[in-house]
Order: sequence, then structure tokens, then C-alpha cells
Amino acid sequence: MSTTSTAAASATDRSEAARAFLADFRSMSTFGATAGGGVDRQAGTAADGQTRNWFRGLVEGHGFEVRYDAVGNQFALLELIPGAPYVAMGSHLDSQPLGGRFDGAYGVLTAAHAAIRLKEAAQGAKFNIAVINWFNEEGCRFKPSMMGSSVFTGKLPAEQVLETTDPHGTTVREALESIGTIGDFSLDVAAYLEIHIEQGRSLEDDGLTIGLVESTWGANKYEFVVHGEQAHTGATVIADRHDALLGASLLVAAARDIADEFSTEEHAVITSCGEFTVFPNSPVVVASRVNLLVDLRSTDPDVLAAADAELHRRVAAIEQRASVEIKRGAEHVWASKAYDASGMKLAAASADKLGLPYGTVRTLAGHDSTNMKDIVPTIMLFVPSVEGISHNEKELTSDEDMLAGVDLFTELLGRVARGEFV
Ligand code: GLV
Ligand code: MN
Ligand code: MN
Repeated sequence: MSTTSTAAASATDRSEAARAFLADFRSMSTFGATAGGGVDRQAGTAADGQTRNWFRGLVEGHGFEVRYDAVGNQFALLELIPGAPYVAMGSHLDSQPLGGRFDGAYGVLTAAHAAIRLKEAAQGAKFNIAVINWFNEEGCRFKPSMMGSSVFTGKLPAEQVLETTDPHGTTVREALESIGTIGDFSLDVAAYLEIHIEQGRSLEDDGLTIGLVESTWGANKYEFVVHGEQAHTGATVIADRHDALLGASLLVAAARDIADEFSTEEHAVITSCGEFTVFPNSPVVVASRVNLLVDLRSTDPDVLAAADAELHRRVAAIEQRASVEIKRGAEHVWASKAYDASGMKLAAASADKLGLPYGTVRTLAGHDSTNMKDIVPTIMLFVPSVEGISHNEKELTSDEDMLAGVDLFTELLGRVARGEFV
């Protein structure tokens, strides 16, 4: 074949690969599809199970073998060199309630397509490839988030996770058994790669296509239970009240004040209350109890510690003001920590080769790579999110940016597989 016709053939291959990716992305997005254009695939639900089965069919069609570990992490294994160690890539197919189509799912599908493309050109590969769909990254139905990768990295015991219940009392074990995605597989991995949508605005604002993630923000998440006493909303005089809903509301407002007061030019503090459950939640009843989750994040450990200490000081004041008792329950904490610098360089060299504009970013959101980077050399990449919209049915990444990410991830995987990272 002449050079021109070889180039034409490879351009055709690329556009076929791009079409195949977009077609698979569209098929995947039909599982748990919502009227507002998003998906609802909370961990261990029927919709999550359907997505997992669809993914299984997709990769088995390309010669992967699919296995599950004890907490439902789904491993798609591509053996290129019998007996060689594995490089893993992945993200998650579960979603928030009324979540977007891209969060997690883009990363799993990109990893699978990069592996499929590598299979066609695997000369020089020194590693086998695993694509991992981590169980319950989102942490909405079952807390905490990043559950499957937390067990894989030894941060949470599998037994504790399997006994964790959703608000209706269903355990993780029951949910996984009901969708048939539980097993006893385990895998040692030599390195981990993940690509995800940014879920923020910085790439779009800076006109960049690729974010090289240099570190995580630190995060402290606490479950609080505010205990009051059930009473009549009209008949009980104010002085006699122990209003759990008042106490919980003051805590929500305190968290917001702390974000405003502790953010500096250099280091922002971000706080939220994303979950709030009132008991008995009846119109003429002063609440006896509220369960809520407060989340504090910052890039700087000292700023985060100061904000955290202030939150706990305010808890004591709120107990007095609302005449309630506030107990702290489970916590989920991760530190601000760097990703592997040599991995960032390798990703930068890959982006240079493809002519893709890139910059460094930090991740505010947690990811499975937040856990994996603590046990193996890890590379984390972002593609832009339109207007930074995230955990929302309107979440969007353009086809062009998705495909640029797939090309880059394929290039990077090829280099990692040939031994350029570990
Ligand atoms: C993810 O789990 C997050 O809390 O960002
Ligand atoms: Mn995600
Ligand atoms: Mn998410």
C-alpha cells in the first residue's frame, strides 16, 4: 500500500472507531434513562444490573473475560500475554438519582474502547489489561461513595460493606445477589488509569481539551443525627421545644457560613449538605430527629482542618440554641494528595503527540482513582464538562471532546502497556 493509501486507511479506521464509540455510548445511555435526558442507575438497582450486563456483552464480544469480586466490582480482562501483570483502567457505571449520562460511564466505556484498539495493535505490550467497573462509586443508595474501590484498596472491609443497608433495609449483599454480579475474583494490578468528565468549568474556561489531574482536594464527610423531641407544632410553646429540624437547619447554614469565612484567595473551602431526612416529617409535628450529611472540602489540609474545627465548635452552640443533641455518626475522609508526577508527564507527552491542548487541574470530586492512587502508580485525566454542570440530567460533554479523550486514552494506554510508566 502507498503511504497515502495507508494514511487514508488509518483515517478510515479512526472514524470507524469513533462511530463505534459514539454508538456504544448512546446504547449505554438507554439503561436507566430519565425523561430529562439523564440516567438513574443507583448502585445495585435493576438499571445498574442491566447496564452491567450490557457492558459484559460488549466486552465479551471483543474477547474479554468478565469476573466479579466479593463486593461486585466488575473486571473485564483482556489477556495479551499469558502470565504478565495487569494494568487496570476504569470508573463506574452507577449514577446519582437523576444523574447525568457521562459521570463514570464515559470513563468505563473509554477504557474498554482504548483496550479494544490496543488489542488490534498490541506489539510490544508487556502487560495484560483489565477494565474495571467499580461498584457504587456514587454512594447515594449505599454510603459511603467509592465503595467498591475502597474495598479493593483495603480502606473498607468487604464484610462491613456487604452488610451496609439502603434506606429500605436492603443490604449490599442482597442488592448484588439480586442483579447477579457478585463473585470471588481478585486481581493484583501494576498501575491504574482513569478518565472522567471534569464536572467543573476550568477546562472549558481555559479552552483546553484535556485536564491532567495533579491532586485531589481533601474531603471530610460526616453523618450527623440531630435528636429532639416529637411535639405538636401549635400546642407546644416555644420554650418547651427540642426541635431537631431547627438544629439541623442551623447546621446546614453553619456549613455554608464556614465556606464563606474560611475560603482564602489561594485555598477555597467548599461545604454542602446533600442529604437531609426528617422524622417523622409530618405537617403538625415538631421533628424528633433529622439525619444529615455534611461535606467539607479544601485544597489545603490546614485550611480544611480549621474549617472542620469550626464546624465542630458550632455544633455545640447549635445544641444549646435549639435545645437538641447532635451526634456524629459515620465519616468518610480523604486527604489532599498528589497523583504520580511521571504519569502526568507521560499523559502530557501523549497529548502533545495528538496535538491536544491540555493543562493541569485538581479534582474536587472523589473518584475511584482517589483510592487507587494510594496503592499503585495512577494517572487521572479529565475532559471538559459543558458549563461545569454535574450530578444533573443536563450534564454534557461534546462528542468531539469525548472522542479526543478516547484517542488520548488509547495513546496513553499503548505507552503504559509497552512499559513506559511502570
Ligand atoms: C464522590 O464520591 C464525591 O464525594 O465527590
Ligand atoms: Mn464519577
Ligand atoms: Mn458522580
